[in-house]
Amino acid sequence: MSNLAIATQDLVRTYRTRKSAGNPSGAPVVALDGVTLDIPPGEFFGLLGPNGAGKTTFIKVLVTLLLPTSGSARVAGFDVVGQAQQVRERISMVSGGEHSGYGLLTVREQLWMFSQFYGMPTQTALARIDELLRVVGLYEERNRRVSALSSGMRQKMNMVRGLLPDPEILFLDEPTVGLDVEAARDVRAYIKEWIHATPGRTILLTTHYMHEAEELCDRVAIIHKGRIVACDTPAALRRRTAGGTYFVLTTEPLDGTAWVSQVPGVQRADARASDGRTELRLQLADDGVIAGVVKALADRERRIFSLQKIEPSLEDVFVQIVGRRLEEADEGGRA
Ligand SMILES: Nc1ncnc2c1ncn2[C@@H]1O[C@H](COP(=O)(O)OP(=O)(O)O)[C@@H](O)[C@H]1O
Ligand SMILES: [Mg+2]
Repeated sequence: MSNLAIATQDLVRTYRTRKSAGNPSGAPVVALDGVTLDIPPGEFFGLLGPNGAGKTTFIKVLVTLLLPTSGSARVAGFDVVGQAQQVRERISMVSGGEHSGYGLLTVREQLWMFSQFYGMPTQTALARIDELLRVVGLYEERNRRVSALSSGMRQKMNMVRGLLPDPEILFLDEPTVGLDVEAARDVRAYIKEWIHATPGRTILLTTHYMHEAEELCDRVAIIHKGRIVACDTPAALRRRTAGGTYFVLTTEPLDGTAWVSQVPGVQRADARASDGRTELRLQLADDGVIAGVVKALADRERRIFSLQKIEPSLEDVFVQIVGRRLEEADEGGRA
C-alpha cells in the first residue's frame, strides 16, 4: 500500500447513453479512459483540460459520487468503492457555478447548517465559520441572505463550506468558472492562503484556464478525451514545448538573414518582412547569445525597434499535444 493522497490505476468510467442526434449509435461514452495518477500528500495538483475531457467525472469518482467502471482509485489510502465512508470523512468538494443552498437563510445560518451535516459542535462550528468568513472577506456579509449574494460572494461562501470540516484532501472542480476576473482572483488568493496555512493538505483542482493551473499548481496533468496526455510541473511542461523560449526582434529592413544564423549560438533564425520592417524570430542556445545578434545588427547599422523574449505557456503545451487551442478543443457532448 502507499501513503499517497490520491492514487488511481487504469481508471475507466463510461456512461450509458440513449441514441440521440449527437450520438446516433447510442454507444457508451467513455469519460475516463484508463487514468493512472499518483498525487502525494501536500501537493497542489491541477487537472487541465477542455470541456468534456473528463475532469468532473474524475473528481466524482474520487469523492465517491460515481462508481468506477473498471480500474481502481484510492483517496487518503482508502478505496473509493470498498471504503467510501473512510474516504468521505477526509475530503470535501467545491464546484464552480454551484447553486447549493437555501436563499432564505443568511450566510452564517447556511454555513451553520452545513456544519451540522458534518457533525460539528455548534460553538466550534460558529467560531470556525466566522474565522473562515474573515479570511475570504465575507464577514461583513454574514447576516445577508444567500439569495442576495453576487456569484463571486456565493462562490466564496461555497469555499468556506468546503473548508469547514478541515479536509485532508480538497477537491475543487472549476472553482472560478463563471466568476468575473476580480472575484476569480480573490478565490484563487484564498485557495493559496488556505494551502499555505494548512501544510500537508492536498488539493486536486480542475480547470480549463491555463493561467489558473500555472499560477496555482505544483504539478499539472493535461487530460484530453479521458486520457492523461502529459503530467509534470508547469515549468517542465513549458520546457517540453518545441522551440522552447525564443526571441523576437524587429529591425530596419534586412536583405538576407543568412549572416544571423552565423552568429555563434543561434540555432534557428526566421525572418518576415512587413511594414518596412523585418521581424526576426530567433531560437538561441542561451539568452546570452542575443548580445552577439545585437552587435551583428549594429555592425550592419540596422536599428532595432523592439526586442521581446517569448516564453512558451501551458497553452502552447496544450496546442502542441492536442493540436488545437484550448478554447476550440471542447470535446462535445454535455460539459
Ligand atoms: N451523466 C452523463 N451521461 C452521459 N454522458 C456524460 C454524463 N456526464 C458526462 N458525460 C460525458 O462524459 C464526458 C466527460 O464529461 P465531464 O467529466 O463532465 O468532462 P469535464 O468536466 O472535463 O467537462 C463528456 O463527453 C460528457 O459529455
Ligand atoms: Mg466539468
